[in-house]
Amino acid sequence: MKPNNPKVSAVILAAGSGTRMNCDVTKQRMYILGESVLHRSVRAFSKSESISSLVVVCRADEVEWAASELADISKPYTVIAGGKTRAESAKLGFEAIPADSDYVAIHDAARCLVTPKIIDSVLSVALTYGAATAAAPLSDTIKRVDNDLIITQTVPRESLYSASTPQIFSTLLYKKALSATENIESFTDDNMLIEASGQTVRCVDIGNENIKITTPNDISYAEYILGKRENMFEYKIGHGYDVHRLVPDRALVLGGVNIPSDKGLLGHSDADVLTHAIMDSLLGAMGLGDIGKHFPDTSGEFKDISSLELLSRIASLISNNGYEVVNVDATLILQKPKIAPYIDLMKANISKILGIEQGRINIKATTEEGLGFTGSGEGAAAHSVAMLKK
Ligand code: CTP
Ligand code: MG
Repeated sequence: MKPNNPKVSAVILAAGSGTRMNCDVTKQRMYILGESVLHRSVRAFSKSESISSLVVVCRADEVEWAASELADISKPYTVIAGGKTRAESAKLGFEAIPADSDYVAIHDAARCLVTPKIIDSVLSVALTYGAATAAAPLSDTIKRVDNDLIITQTVPRESLYSASTPQIFSTLLYKKALSATENIESFTDDNMLIEASGQTVRCVDIGNENIKITTPNDISYAEYILGKRENMFEYKIGHGYDVHRLVPDRALVLGGVNIPSDKGLLGHSDADVLTHAIMDSLLGAMGLGDIGKHFPDTSGEFKDISSLELLSRIASLISNNGYEVVNVDATLILQKPKIAPYIDLMKANISKILGIEQGRINIKATTEEGLGFTGSGEGAAAHSVAMLKK
């Protein structure tokens, strides 16, 4: 029976040696347009809202590297050591997912062009039928050949699909198939296990860009595909500016962090001037006005509200309008106290709510050398610019 809110865990297989790549680092460690193959795959799964946690299966000598490479991934994940074959690594990964998982999505880290959209389209079929695999129809005419490379047969193309990953199964089905099947070592994908147990797997046509990085040529092809995807995005920038008065007997909240200070910011909400500027820049990029319009200070609903709560509503607006945050750069103007020790906490708060890596948020602070209203300590100001893509 299909659970109402199924728990889906992902297993990312990255324990291979990349022999066909013929390079001194493994494929998972190679960088494509500034991001490692492993990070790209894991990021796609961490961005899919359907996936609740991940198990990353690595070579024993790369477990430490993987943990530091994936430090900015916000979804819960564990890194474990894999086995000698892909099938063995998949089995170890499956055994490490949370016991209450309803579905498992198994993915080759080497298919690092996977997207949340691909994951979700395979998942929706798996949720209905119990087992589904990413796949694509073949475009070439396929020939069977003998030992002398003489064609012995033309295989009708209509019935041929090439299977990729993710391959997503009900955990009950997968567990049953695992215990019923021997000699799984030679299996080159996870569908074979389900097929061997007499169950059916449905192919989901996800197009032909979900390539597996296998040989050096694949790196330039992947760069080409990524470049093409980037060009299809529409980019928008926005600017935000806000000022609040500093008064005694108010908390000083900046970027959602309570900062010890003899004065705090005055306002209808918690008066977090930095988060307000960031929200205005995000709304500006979407062409949706400003926070005054969305959260009027005449409304009791927003009295003393945490600005992080307001930011999470902006985050929903961003995703509901089909945007993704590329980056945010904000500057706080405050004479005192020094906020440098709190910047990482602010970045953690804001990136978590926006669902992006911390590296996409920059926060800096300056004084205005004692000049003007910020210099005299009468108030604080903040500027922010944000870039979104659609
Ligand atoms: N894989 C794995 N454990 C293994 C072998 C492979 O987790 N013992 C993973 C790889 O890291 C890869 C995926 O399975 O993400 C598909 O395997 P493949 O493309 O064959 O990668 P490699 O085995 O690394 O490459 P090669 O076969 O060229 O050595
Ligand atoms: Mg291999």
